[in-house]
Amino acid sequence: MRRSRFIGYGSYLPKRIITNNELAARLDTSDEWIKQRTGISQRHVAADGEFTSHLATNAAQNAIADARIDVGELDLLIVATATPDNTFPATATRVQAELGMLQGVAFDVQAVCSGFVYALAMADNMIQLGQAETALVVGAETFSRILDWNDRTTCVLFGDGAGAVVLQADVGDGSNKDRGILSTHLYSDGRQYDALFVDGGPSTTGISGHVRMQGREVYRQAVARMVEGVDTALTTNGLRAHDVDWLIPHQANLRIMEHVGEKLGIPPEKTIVTVQKQANTSAATIPLALAQASFEGRLLEGQILALTAMGGGFSWGAALIRL
Ligand code: ACO
Repeated sequence: MRRSRFIGYGSYLPKRIITNNELAARLDTSDEWIKQRTGISQRHVAADGEFTSHLATNAAQNAIADARIDVGELDLLIVATATPDNTFPATATRVQAELGMLQGVAFDVQAVCSGFVYALAMADNMIQLGQAETALVVGAETFSRILDWNDRTTCVLFGDGAGAVVLQADVGDGSNKDRGILSTHLYSDGRQYDALFVDGGPSTTGISGHVRMQGREVYRQAVARMVEGVDTALTTNGLRAHDVDWLIPHQANLRIMEHVGEKLGIPPEKTIVTVQKQANTSAATIPLALAQASFEGRLLEGQILALTAMGGGFSWGAALIRL
């Protein structure tokens, strides 16, 4: 049985940092309110002229270096993003050119905050089918460009950034002792389209629009759906919550992550958290958290990782990995 193994991680955060206090100086909000409700203390924001493709390319180059592969070995590149450079073509094709990747296929996946888990599932399926051997999966966003900076209920929550992983085909016996992605699980429910959306787009207003959100409903659904995803992944593989070494949830809000951990019975010390310094970077949060955990030496061979995300649509998903 072919499995997709994680062989490299990379990240990139724009240099400019905006603290809660800077936001409080121009909005009716406070460092205390933002920290207490979300855990966020700062966010990175892309410079003028710095696009999603630039963030993605930097993270991708770091992941390729970490994997110690040549760019010529890559035959698949997926960029998960809801903030592409242009409406078309896919931002992934620009990243492909920037990397000097002259072969294979490159395309974008759009599932907002669930985008990385969706992209990971696509790459894993293609590797399992033999359509790809070595894949680069990137989550990259410049949400700062679609925020209404006068809306305190949304603009304090998000940041810009990119994370990337390299996956490579490996052969296992099909058991949950195999190294690599054990299973992925994707879901969506379009009835809640309006609970979290951008009020613009090429086919509606012709301009890109701003994030609009029913915060409470998103919070409630995020906890329930992320828990559901991990539960299903564990059951599918005959594993239990105590088998999980690291829970890596989408980093929307510290309280959401704490509730998810509590409901699953996974303690906070087994949860990777980056939201304080990076805020919610949508599709980039999970690969950024993976890269940080890897650089800190926390990811060890044989460990079980549970990835889970939820976002606009609503869309949600989970993945279970043995390193
Ligand atoms: N600063 C100060 N006050 C604020 C702010 C702010 N930044 N934002 C909202 N408020 C005010 C509201 O206007 C409201 O005031 P009112 O009572 O006078 O009307 C009050 O605070 C309470 O607002 P609520 O929305 O009820 O606050 P809540 O406790 O629900 O917290 C929050 C809001 C943090 C947005 C929460 O609902 C949440 O985290 N939801 C999840 C949203 C999320 O993470 N979205 C990310 C995208 S989706 C994803 O990634 C899963």
